[in-house]
Amino acid sequence: MTPMHVLVTGGAGFVGSHLVDALVAAGHRVRILDSLDPQVHPEGALPDYLNSAAEFIRGDVREREAVREALRDVDAVVHLAAAVGVGQSMYDVARYVDVNSLGGALLLDLLANEKHTVGRMLVASSMSCYGEGKYACDACGPIFPKLRPAAQLAARDWEMHCPACGKPARPVPTDEEKPLFPTSIYAITKRDHEEMFLSVGRAYGIKTTALRFFNIYGPRQALSNPYTGVAAIFSSRLLNGRPPLIFEDGRQSRDFIHVSDVVSAMQTALDADNVDGEVLNVGTGRALSVLELCGLLADKLGSGEKPEIENRFREGDIRHCYADVEKIRRLLGWSPRIGFEEGVGDLVGWVRTQLASDAVPRAKEELERRGLTK
Ligand code: UD1
Repeated sequence: MTPMHVLVTGGAGFVGSHLVDALVAAGHRVRILDSLDPQVHPEGALPDYLNSAAEFIRGDVREREAVREALRDVDAVVHLAAAVGVGQSMYDVARYVDVNSLGGALLLDLLANEKHTVGRMLVASSMSCYGEGKYACDACGPIFPKLRPAAQLAARDWEMHCPACGKPARPVPTDEEKPLFPTSIYAITKRDHEEMFLSVGRAYGIKTTALRFFNIYGPRQALSNPYTGVAAIFSSRLLNGRPPLIFEDGRQSRDFIHVSDVVSAMQTALDADNVDGEVLNVGTGRALSVLELCGLLADKLGSGEKPEIENRFREGDIRHCYADVEKIRRLLGWSPRIGFEEGVGDLVGWVRTQLASDAVPRAKEELERRGLTK
């Protein structure tokens, strides 16, 4: 890959910091723009793992001057900076739209109105844009259901039914053509990112690709953030000798991808010239239920702790979604390398170094107070 000067917004975060390491190792010049959000970086200082070969600018994506400085002389931008708590976005609505949608808009506004050297952009999108994944009904064929009706959830009937005929619906891989039904403010802002970056990229001839990340896990996942992903939450619960709390019946499933696979997908996309204007799923193509995930983590930790199955649900949660990775395979020749059984060791190793932070009770209380778990 020809060496580039790359700006990584959110480069001190979980995904961003791994990308920075990989870009530096590949010989690129890297600049980070990161606000060190206290929810993710409670110590208020640069994290120990941050790559010292990268230039660091502390600044918020909503500050015009900071973004202008960050964009100076870069060839490529990878926009990862975002507020990422799905549940939190449902009560911190204005801040999420401000940081995510307006933060992204400000960067694009500078590219549209000022001289710049950017020829390539990647933007982090999310499987959350889909809402529910794609399903198949034996009678009706492929279907794209919206969230399960409130009355069904109130009756603790968790699986998806075909909205047309009511028969059980079976999850199938979700491809990029599935209609988007974002179900949270966070997801809406991620769709904004995709659409805004692709539209401005096209208008100004900047090659732009949006990557829809599935559920990412791995070292450096922020355990101080109560809204971090379920794999990190369960690991820290088990290490603290507390039972994981499982929503619904635990048979809901997701596609868990190791952070190093996400990094290799980003690097491959940055280097490719056939993905301008494209949206690509970045997942493994394998569904794992929350119960299976919990079992694998408990095995890895040698924990006998049994999960507590809550038989309650989180407002806005989907039942199943896993990636169809055919498009990214075809266009980039990329495929994931690490299965969960292999990658989980890394996650657990990291969680062990993070002293007993269990932010779950706080998140639970905040969601409950607002009627967002039922
Ligand atoms: C959401 C977003 C995704 C984002 C991710 C991490 C959607 C559809 N997706 O994924 O884009 O990357 O958050 O911010 O909004 N669970 C439990 N117990 C817990 C925590 C979670 O049972 O203590 C269950 C949830 O009910 C859900 C599954 O685990 O069924 C996954 O939850 P989570 O890790 O929060 O991620 P998603 O909601 O899939």
